[in-house]
Amino acid sequence: MTGKREHFGGRTAAILALAGSAIGLGNIWRFPYMVGQTGGAAFIIIYLLACLFLSVPIFLAEAIIGHRTHAGTFGALEQLAPGTKWKWLGLLTVFSPLIILSYYSVVGGWSIGYLFQSLTEGFHASDIGTVSSAYAKFISSPGRPLLFHTVFLLGCAVIVSAGVKSGIEKFNKITMPLLFALIVLIMTYSLSLPGAKEGVAYLVKPDFSKITPSAVAAAMGQSFFSLSLGVGTILTYASYIRREENILATGLGTVGFDLLFALIAGFAIMPAVFAAGIEPGAGPGLIFETLPYIFAKMGAAVPWVSAVVAVLFFFTIVFAAFTSAISMYEVGVAYLVEQRKLSRHKATVLIFVGTWILGALCSLSFGPLAQTKLFGLSIFSFCDMLTSNFLMTFGGLLFVLFVGWKMDKAVVRDEFTVGGTSRFNCAVFDAFWFLLRYVAPVAIVVIFFTNFFA
Ligand code: PHE
Repeated sequence: MTGKREHFGGRTAAILALAGSAIGLGNIWRFPYMVGQTGGAAFIIIYLLACLFLSVPIFLAEAIIGHRTHAGTFGALEQLAPGTKWKWLGLLTVFSPLIILSYYSVVGGWSIGYLFQSLTEGFHASDIGTVSSAYAKFISSPGRPLLFHTVFLLGCAVIVSAGVKSGIEKFNKITMPLLFALIVLIMTYSLSLPGAKEGVAYLVKPDFSKITPSAVAAAMGQSFFSLSLGVGTILTYASYIRREENILATGLGTVGFDLLFALIAGFAIMPAVFAAGIEPGAGPGLIFETLPYIFAKMGAAVPWVSAVVAVLFFFTIVFAAFTSAISMYEVGVAYLVEQRKLSRHKATVLIFVGTWILGALCSLSFGPLAQTKLFGLSIFSFCDMLTSNFLMTFGGLLFVLFVGWKMDKAVVRDEFTVGGTSRFNCAVFDAFWFLLRYVAPVAIVVIFFTNFFA
């Protein structure tokens, strides 16, 4: 199987693909509103610590499994622990990213809707109330969100069916540098707005009284979501990385890019939120309410600059979402191709149908299905809560336990140190091993229970 398998071209391609998975709506849509809801700078500090000491070891654990076996989630665990129950973890991680994909595609669709609006009529509402009700009206109407959800998912299907090298790698190589350029441009603009200073202060001056157990759990959960952990996407992408590649360098590169992007996105959004006088704790609608308002205000002064920035912004969000969504899609495709022997094309179609249906239900749960509740939550919120609070943390826990306690230490060391050839990696192996075996599992169990009881 290894011989026929596709590979990313080299380290840059691998980092771009992994960063493409990591950088997405999590950074631009979720991170700013989590910062706003959970205490500004204090949240960011915990988030940075969580990324370094918790997410890096988990990321590496997943990457080691994929890279060692060059197989998708199910096959990888079956290969490393044949005949055991571990393969069920593989199966769980085939489904978790597909559930995320379903509702992610709905938000990806909204972004396409806003991109479309920025390209056609633009944004003109002069008060925030009108902007908020336009957002509420848009997401609750059945037709357009469904249409855009379909367009988004179809786009993913086209890229994924083209394959790892000519689809996923090529797409990420072009879009990732573009995304960085765009977000830096938007941040520069946002920082130049009158009133932006307050937003900057909010992001850099911590108020330590905001550090509560649920803020810590939220920061850890956000780092899981942002780095695509615990659902087999990192494992699957790492399985396309060449044998001789340095997993630690690739992992640190990816985490570094993801963090940098989240911070830049924070500095792009928060100053604009404060400049517009919007409540930073507004929740999931934050960017979809703040930005159109800013664009409308700006448009009243200099219409063409506003129109261009609006298009660039929504373009950035749509492409960032695409590169992440294809990584979730690929987990399911890899499973169907490798384990069920389906053609890549058929696998793509099958996953399209399944995720389209669940996504449509999530989309309709803002309108006609608003009364349908699962454990008191709408279908959309249920899928989000189930995956980000439980399946991701549970999957992450099982991955670290597998690598730290089940796999042979010599094999893990061999993978981590590139067969003993990297002196730096050899020097930090013991620290990694400690974080992996003790710190990560305990921290994950704590997040899990905090999420459960909070
Ligand atoms: N990391 C992605 C983001 O930040 C989301 C994601 C979650 C991608 C899980 C793949 C798997 O938007």
